[in-house]
Amino acid sequence: MSKLTECIKGRRSIRNFKEEKVKDEDILAILESATFAPSAINKQPWYFIVIKDDALKKQMASIVEAKLTEVLSKTAKDEDTDILINYSKFFTFFEEAPVVIAVLCRPITSPIAVFLERAGIPVDELEDPVHSEIQSASAAIQNMLLKAHDLGLGSCWMTNPLIAAKELESLLRVKKPWYIMSIIPIGVPASTPRMSRRKKISSIVKFINGGS
Ligand SMILES: Cc1cc2nc3c(=O)[nH]c(=O)nc-3n(C[C@H](O)[C@H](O)[C@H](O)COP(=O)(O)O)c2cc1C
Repeated sequence: MSKLTECIKGRRSIRNFKEEKVKDEDILAILESATFAPSAINKQPWYFIVIKDDALKKQMASIVEAKLTEVLSKTAKDEDTDILINYSKFFTFFEEAPVVIAVLCRPITSPIAVFLERAGIPVDELEDPVHSEIQSASAAIQNMLLKAHDLGLGSCWMTNPLIAAKELESLLRVKKPWYIMSIIPIGVPASTPRMSRRKKISSIVKFINGGS
């Protein structure tokens, strides 16, 4: 198996971390990998806040927990709320990682929006029909997860904490047009889960062959 294939297939979402510190040079290597991702019209619409401060991590997790509690208190109880209660750790475990990276992005005008506008087809000024910044920042995140794995580190792509997006943005002093699109905890894995189920290739692919 090539090193790349090992990284792609061997990476897991890690949710338990050892206390061991992560070297700054490793964090920088992970972020450098992010910058090599493709981005729409090479806008590189991303920014990274690296949080190593334990008190700040705890504050972020308390904010998320408080918001989750508020949301649950205002929601009629059913199976879905039970799932939320049981999975609340999946919102806050980032606080136990030695490093937490908040990935920010900002809207960019996509080439598609420009062409639609030129053709006289109305497009909301801020609307990007293909969400270019999300697609670009997602490519950067995947590079980060793979590089972390390559360095023997574990990570997890998290959006659940963004239930409290506004509050986290205020705490981290994120100014518009930037917004937090993901939270990525990174550390030495304390345990590595088994591979989660993958759909069979045959169920997700359609070939349209030319010729015969
Ligand atoms: C956009 C996105 C958001 C995610 N958010 C969370 C999250 O908030 N909490 C969490 O525990 N896992 C989160 N995950 C991780 C997924 O649960 C995980 O990738 C999936 O179960 C497959 O497992 P694997 O990453 O180990 O292959 C997220 C993944 C993606 C791509």
